[in-house]
Amino acid sequence: MARKKLIAGNWKMNGLLADGVELAKGVAAEVKKLGRVSTVEFLVCPPATLLTSVKKALKGARVALGAQDCHFNLKGAHTGDISPAMLTDVGCSYVILGHSERRADHGESNALINKKAVSAQAEGLKAVICIGETEAQRDAGKTLEVCREQILGSVPEGSTNKKTVIAYEPVWAIGTGKTPTAADVQEVHAEIRKVLSKKLGRAVANKIQILYGGSVKPTNAKEFLSLPDVDGALIGGASLKVEDFLGIATKVL
Ligand code: PGA
Repeated sequence: MARKKLIAGNWKMNGLLADGVELAKGVAAEVKKLGRVSTVEFLVCPPATLLTSVKKALKGARVALGAQDCHFNLKGAHTGDISPAMLTDVGCSYVILGHSERRADHGESNALINKKAVSAQAEGLKAVICIGETEAQRDAGKTLEVCREQILGSVPEGSTNKKTVIAYEPVWAIGTGKTPTAADVQEVHAEIRKVLSKKLGRAVANKIQILYGGSVKPTNAKEFLSLPDVDGALIGGASLKVEDFLGIATKVL
């Protein structure tokens, strides 16, 4: 069966209550207008402060709710952290893990991301595990090697398509307006699927959605989303505007 396309918005640290609710209502209204589309899935990942209100604002629309990070413990003395159980409790079904901004700002390692993913998956969340090379790594010709290492290190053993999504986001393409060529993206995605196949078996790897992220806009979305191993997009900046987010989604309808 063909993999569905996942159009995912990563709002990052943006939005106060009123903005978040307005954005979520806008997305919900537009997705409702699309009617029953069985080949595309929608996801928004607001900051933790907005999860509950965004959940309410999305009511009745086929848009899933996700968080941007979680701890690997379900509760306890971890000041400032949020557990997978807390995320499912407020209606999340996804959590982004290992985004390059968390790897850079919080020193998150593949091993830590793996631990978080194990816990999130066990709690019933789908882990959107992010990987991607820096500009220096790309210039050194190490893109595939870095991606292989990140996949092997951060994706838990026994992961399935029901509990796992991969997002390939070249660090240098995030928020910069720069993107790899379509051929480069396809090459990396095919390699990711090959590594997943070795790690999890071909049947599982063929079902796992691999998203591209990094400066995706309505103007370049079609180029990436039509590639054979690209199963959707993780969208930062453009997910903060209803028309841009939907403008990307409509390229795969
Ligand atoms: P961007 O961010 O679309 O603003 O480049 C993507 C991401 O970081 O997920």
